[in-house]
Amino acid sequence: MDFSEIERRGLVLLGCGKMGSALLAGWLKGDLAPGAVHVRDPHPSDWLKATGVNLNAPLPASPALVLVAVKPQMMAEALPSMTDLGGGATLFVSIAAGTKISRFEEMLGAATPIVRAMPNTPAAVGRGITAICGNDHATQAHLDMAEGLLLAVGQVVRLEGEFQIDAVTAVSGSGPAYVFHLIETLAAAGTAEGLPPDMAMQLTKATVAGAGALAEDSDDSPTQLRINVTSPAGTTAAALEVLMDEKNGFPALLRRAVHAAAERGRELGK
Ligand SMILES: NC(=O)c1ccc[n+]([C@@H]2O[C@H](COP(=O)([O-])OP(=O)(O)OC[C@H]3O[C@@H](n4cnc5c(N)ncnc54)[C@H](OP(=O)(O)O)[C@@H]3O)[C@@H](O)[C@H]2O)c1
Repeated sequence: MDFSEIERRGLVLLGCGKMGSALLAGWLKGDLAPGAVHVRDPHPSDWLKATGVNLNAPLPASPALVLVAVKPQMMAEALPSMTDLGGGATLFVSIAAGTKISRFEEMLGAATPIVRAMPNTPAAVGRGITAICGNDHATQAHLDMAEGLLLAVGQVVRLEGEFQIDAVTAVSGSGPAYVFHLIETLAAAGTAEGLPPDMAMQLTKATVAGAGALAEDSDDSPTQLRINVTSPAGTTAAALEVLMDEKNGFPALLRRAVHAAAERGRELGK
């Protein structure tokens, strides 16, 4: 990414916990000068102190961007310190789950360019995916800048609008937890069939990671990849008969789970 505007005007990171640190680590690896970054965080980690960024120091007058990475429940406390930067030249990018663009417009002024983003935890290993959408004042250049910064921790997709964010939250935002639970339960099922727990877990983690990598890298669709490993009347077919059951298998279960997450997102956003 071209960091020249950010290096000229500065970038503010509000909140440097798990997500903020993952992003900052990605930017510094991508050769953003630490001196261009201004971090606000009440309890900076040792790692953060060693990065050479400006820590809890006075902010530049008109930074290119403020990235908001505090928990939604801390927003009312953290954001008022940024209101001077609202209303025009500074882009605000929020990764806070559940905090709507309209809430930022209320707090920062309706003329503020705002991008709302929904990342996920594999960002911690550079394998995240983030969906973004902007308000009426967010230009293509603003979206490009937000996308460039978020690319530091994985892929980025652009939404048609904020109305799609609860669905994104339900698929990719919360999705890693579904996969972690799949790992727990597949390993437990392996143990029940006679494997030592450690080995069942190793087999399961490698299978999920390997299948995920194959699904991403292959030219074949996941459907074709599934068909490729399923011989008629074989072992995989026996399991898939259970898992693909329209009423009791994955189709109905995931439809219900994803719907519950999306509905909860809609409730929280009210
Ligand atoms: N983790 C995810 O998978 C994920 C996915 C999508 C979206 N998000 C969103 O990302 C945001 C950050 O999540 P996280 O997991 O990184 O949370 P986190 O680890 O708790 O990080 C939040 C950071 O903000 C700091 N903070 C608290 N009050 C502040 C204030 N007034 N001013 C400046 N900084 C303040 C916290 O410091 P203290 O800990 O010292 O209070 C902490 O270091 C959340 O809004 C979350 O919804 C996270």
